[in-house]
Amino acid sequence: MDPLFLILLLFLAITSPTSSSTSDALSEGSSLSVEKPEDVLISPAGLFTAGFHQVGNNSYCFAIWFNEPSSSSSPVSYQNRTIVWMANRDQPVNGKRSKLSLLKTGNLILTDAAQSHVWTTTTTSISPARLRLYDSGNLVLLNLKTKVVLWQSFDSPTDTLLPLQPFTRTAILVSSRSQSNFSSGFYKLFFDNDNLLRLLFDGPEISSVYWPNPAYVSWDNARSTYNSSRTAVLDSLGSFASSDNLTFLAVDYGAKLQRRLTIDFDGNVRLYSRKMPGESWVVSWQAFSDPCVIHGICGANSLCSYDPSSRRKCSCLPGYQMKNHTDWSLGCQPEFQFSYVEGESRFLQLTQVEFYGYDYNEYQNYSYGDCEKRCLELDNCKGFQYTFDSGVYKCNPKTQLRSGHRWNTQGYFYLRLPKAHLFSNTDIKPPKNLGFSCTEKVVDLEREYVKDRVSKPVKFLLWFAYGVGGVEIICIILVWGLLSSTFSKSNEDIHGYLLTATGFKRFSYAELKTATRGFSDEIGRGAGGVVYKGVLADQRVAAIKLLSEANQVEAEFLAEASTIGKVNHMNLIEMWGYCSEGKQASCL
Ligand SMILES: *[C@@H]1O[C@H](CO)[C@@H](O)[C@H](O)[C@H]1NC(C)=O
Ligand SMILES: *[C@@H]1O[C@H](CO)[C@@H](O)[C@H](O)[C@H]1NC(C)=O
Ligand SMILES: *[C@@H]1O[C@H](CO)[C@@H](O)[C@H](O)[C@H]1NC(C)=O
Ligand SMILES: *[C@@H]1O[C@H](CO)[C@@H](O)[C@H](O)[C@H]1NC(C)=O
Ligand SMILES: *[C@@H]1O[C@H](CO)[C@@H](O)[C@H](O)[C@H]1NC(C)=O
Ligand SMILES: *[C@@H]1O[C@H](CO)[C@@H](O)[C@H](O)[C@H]1NC(C)=O
Ligand SMILES: *[C@@H]1O[C@H](CO)[C@@H](O)[C@H](O)[C@H]1NC(C)=O
Repeated sequence: MDPLFLILLLFLAITSPTSSSTSDALSEGSSLSVEKPEDVLISPAGLFTAGFHQVGNNSYCFAIWFNEPSSSSSPVSYQNRTIVWMANRDQPVNGKRSKLSLLKTGNLILTDAAQSHVWTTTTTSISPARLRLYDSGNLVLLNLKTKVVLWQSFDSPTDTLLPLQPFTRTAILVSSRSQSNFSSGFYKLFFDNDNLLRLLFDGPEISSVYWPNPAYVSWDNARSTYNSSRTAVLDSLGSFASSDNLTFLAVDYGAKLQRRLTIDFDGNVRLYSRKMPGESWVVSWQAFSDPCVIHGICGANSLCSYDPSSRRKCSCLPGYQMKNHTDWSLGCQPEFQFSYVEGESRFLQLTQVEFYGYDYNEYQNYSYGDCEKRCLELDNCKGFQYTFDSGVYKCNPKTQLRSGHRWNTQGYFYLRLPKAHLFSNTDIKPPKNLGFSCTEKVVDLEREYVKDRVSKPVKFLLWFAYGVGGVEIICIILVWGLLSSTFSKSNEDIHGYLLTATGFKRFSYAELKTATRGFSDEIGRGAGGVVYKGVLADQRVAAIKLLSEANQVEAEFLAEASTIGKVNHMNLIEMWGYCSEGKQASCL
């Protein structure tokens, strides 16, 4: 008799009530491991996922992200996730042995490989607690008996506010460092002491408020300082309302869409929306249309330029060079030695350029000559703004040149340079680094996995545990591509599966070969065979076991399979099909 290939198909039915209860909640005494990609919480309708998100080589953060539909042709890569919350953005954990655990005491802790506590909710609960992820995107630690919320992610936002998530007096949205680096960046959205919602650039050298327009008083910005409740909320239709009387509507207001308000790494606050998971996000409101008005991005002694077709660009002023070629936020430094000896300076005229703040003073009715003289008298005058505004000439000597950008001013900026430094042109000549994008280069974060020195008996126990674990892999749930499950039930009928007497679909060897891409993705190996990951034609993700005891008689195999099929315990797999095929023959 030809040896038979007997293949078991083991599925986790996510939509079945037994297993769904385990996927959106974590009970006391259990944990999510960084090493198991299937260790995630998924909100009941599958809108959000909470789990470990890779942020660098061997470094992970516990995060909540928008779920995307996965398909075998273009699996959603983790880089494309839209993160809405992070527990440990500034202290990623190791890719080995790190875990998020809900202790019996009611405390939720994130531990690194070295067993150090990276993050904790510092909660306690005498009666049982449970961690649950809701379809609002809120991760909630709930006392099961009293229904009291012990902790929730909505209270400690990262850089994103979701619809109906209250923004309170204690909350601060902090931007990411860059598009790909989720650590805390320099931009903050918060309620200030005068009850106004503000945007602050909190950089390594300076900090300054840039929204609402700092040149105006609050009522010119249509804000009110008198309501001290300091709350704001975005509703699901796209309307934002704050207690300081700031209100705005999304351009697509009224439509039921997925929405989020995010302070982006470039310091702009944007409201995003999209119709469906899997689509890309569109901006439906933003705080600034000219991003060069945002402070800090190009650092000192530089100029920000923007045209909508390209991105924001930074360039150094003439006579200045980039301080650090990897980071624009550090700005530019002079290529020359400043000498304040009289008669040693000259001024270079720059058209339609403005620098924010750091005025020594504002002198009115000064002639150009007076203004130049005033600047030369000052030791730390780097240049001056000379403008004609509302019938008055204004002279503003500057002690620092920051947040420089092109601006339609009725006047010029005069940059102070040493006489020896020769410039023939009257405007900024293209500096050698013009065209540099403002995003700094991102360096991968390397997390070394330090091996413990383990004693021999402990080692034996560990190996024993691994052995048990290996056997368990065969029978314990394997959660893959959980979203795909939403399609599973209906597609089953559409595809007209033929059920055998055992109640399972019989698959052909070729089908399974395609599903597993030639048995390439091994996910486990245990007694009796190797387990592979596979994606079926209807997008269901399955664990497929190739039995090595292939000379089993088929009837025996079917009897065994039938027994497995009847067992439907929540910690066990649900079996959805099988294949039994002779080496060369077609499927029986
Ligand atoms: C996912 O990200 C990669 C680069 O990180 C990009 O090339 C690809 O287009 C993205 N896919 C989708 C569907 O956005
Ligand atoms: C203050 O703002 C809150 C939230 O917007 C609002 O409900 C409340 O009525 C306001 N209070 C006053 C006195 O205007
Ligand atoms: C807030 O805005 C509303 C509507 O624009 C206006 O009627 C009201 O006077 C404003 N309140 C304050 C305190 O500015
Ligand atoms: C630039 O900054 C990076 C990271 O902050 C640093 O490692 C590097 O030494 C700096 N380079 C110079 C030339 O200062
Ligand atoms: C500047 O000149 C204008 C017109 O001559 C005059 O009205 C104004 O008071 C002067 N301002 C100062 C600060 O001297
Ligand atoms: C992200 O930026 C921070 C601060 O500059 C830096 O310390 C960290 O190494 C960066 N992480 C990655 C993954 O590049
Ligand atoms: C991170 O991993 C990628 C792919 O494995 C590798 O190309 C890159 O050099 C690594 N980066 C660092 C800093 O080790």
